[in-house]
Amino acid sequence: PTVFVLNGPNLNLLGSREPQVYGHHTLADVQQLCETRCQQHSLQLRFGQSNHEGQLVDWIHEAGQLHRQGALAGVVLNAAAYTHTSVALPDAIKGTDVPLIELHISNVHAREAFRHHSYIAPVARAVICGLGVFGYALAIDAVAQWNAPPSI
Ligand code: DQA
Repeated sequence: PTVFVLNGPNLNLLGSREPQVYGHHTLADVQQLCETRCQQHSLQLRFGQSNHEGQLVDWIHEAGQLHRQGALAGVVLNAAAYTHTSVALPDAIKGTDVPLIELHISNVHAREAFRHHSYIAPVARAVICGLGVFGYALAIDAVAQWNAPPSI
């Protein structure tokens, strides 16, 4: 099964963008971390970043296609600023019924009020925020757990 790890606007700037908020790791570091974690769980990784809302919608549709074929493990979405503005993203998640974890590097609840509301959260299975890029590893572990055979 495949895990989609999707990243929204400005996350290509990770490492140099407000490092006091988002840390010093680059998006390439995050991709490597996800790759390693997926290998540990024998999951395939599809990793993407886009500054365009419609591209993120298209990727969710792709994940939805895999979901219908029984080949999707889950989606990890850091929608970045679109978390707080987008209706198209939750519509795509609802429309495809993909199992999804909303992720934020920073603790959005400790920041400006406009970051406290998420349009994604009501259609997400879980939300991870405030753990830095380590959150990506935890999200992949959780997706692997969803797909693991039931244990006693
Ligand atoms: C973010 C938090 C968002 O509020 C912000 O717009 C981002 C990144 C995070 O990962 O902490 O771009 O999603």
